[in-house]
Amino acid sequence: MGDALLALVEALEHERSLDAPDRLRERIEALDRLDALAPAEDEGALARRARAIRQRLEAANALQFEAIRAAIRRGGGRDALGLADDDEACRAGDAYDWRDELVAGVLPFGEPGEAAALAPEMVFYQPTPARHVFDLLDRLALDADDVLVDLGSGLGHVPLLTAIRTPARGIGIEIEPAYVAVARACAQALQLANAQFVHGDARATDFAVGSVFYLYTPFTGSVLRRVLDALRHEALCRAFRVCGFGPCTGVLAAEPWLAGEDAPMHGRVAIFRTRC
Ligand SMILES: C[S@@+](CC[C@H](N)C(=O)[O-])C[C@H]1O[C@@H](n2cnc3c(N)ncnc32)[C@H](O)[C@@H]1O
Repeated sequence: MGDALLALVEALEHERSLDAPDRLRERIEALDRLDALAPAEDEGALARRARAIRQRLEAANALQFEAIRAAIRRGGGRDALGLADDDEACRAGDAYDWRDELVAGVLPFGEPGEAAALAPEMVFYQPTPARHVFDLLDRLALDADDVLVDLGSGLGHVPLLTAIRTPARGIGIEIEPAYVAVARACAQALQLANAQFVHGDARATDFAVGSVFYLYTPFTGSVLRRVLDALRHEALCRAFRVCGFGPCTGVLAAEPWLAGEDAPMHGRVAIFRTRC
């Protein structure tokens, strides 16, 4: 461990190009490596050098996050939060990576107040990994007439990223008021009029609004059934898309009124279209 930390500290002390604004990914990954090797409570000389590098890299990240926020406020979020194509971008599964740290750094999420206990069949907050949100938004190719409704939106990053990266409106429906307050504050801080948050139970949603409904398994059993029945009813009069991530995807795939839009991709967000 000590040898590996020494090698990393020496490499990072010399690699000043890491401070350049466009090296955000490398900085985030270097910070993760430092975290893994340098115990926070260690007061030794090597640990102090590691802490100095950490402060240097975090300061560079903070500047970059603020520059991206400023671009979002000017309406240039799509390019500012643009991610270089890479092979890993669509990696299946629910693990998090540097893109989640990018989103957490850019979106000024405050700490939510304490969340109330959820009723049975309602699923606790866990964000969709950011790479899947980016991948989904690219595949949906939303335009200004689209409205993406995230049923069970948590801290709101799916509607927020929709408003940042596309011309569409993003609406979040969330039962936990503390999460709604944080998401609204974030939209306001970034001047995102196209990201809106409703406090309420998804079963009471106005399903007439929305060209895309997104569910990261927010609920199961009879709650999910009620929401899907309401969507099926809505599909009698108009077409829309329903997207699923996590265990609810299998339930969506079995709905006779929905058809998969593309070949099933295990561990990625599935997109379904209402059958005419
Ligand atoms: C797995 S998280 C998904 C968060 C978000 N959609 C995302 O993908 O990042 C599920 C969220 O659904 C919320 N939730 C659970 N039951 C709900 C209900 N009946 N109506 C609205 N929100 C609900 C939870 O509070 C939680 O924030």
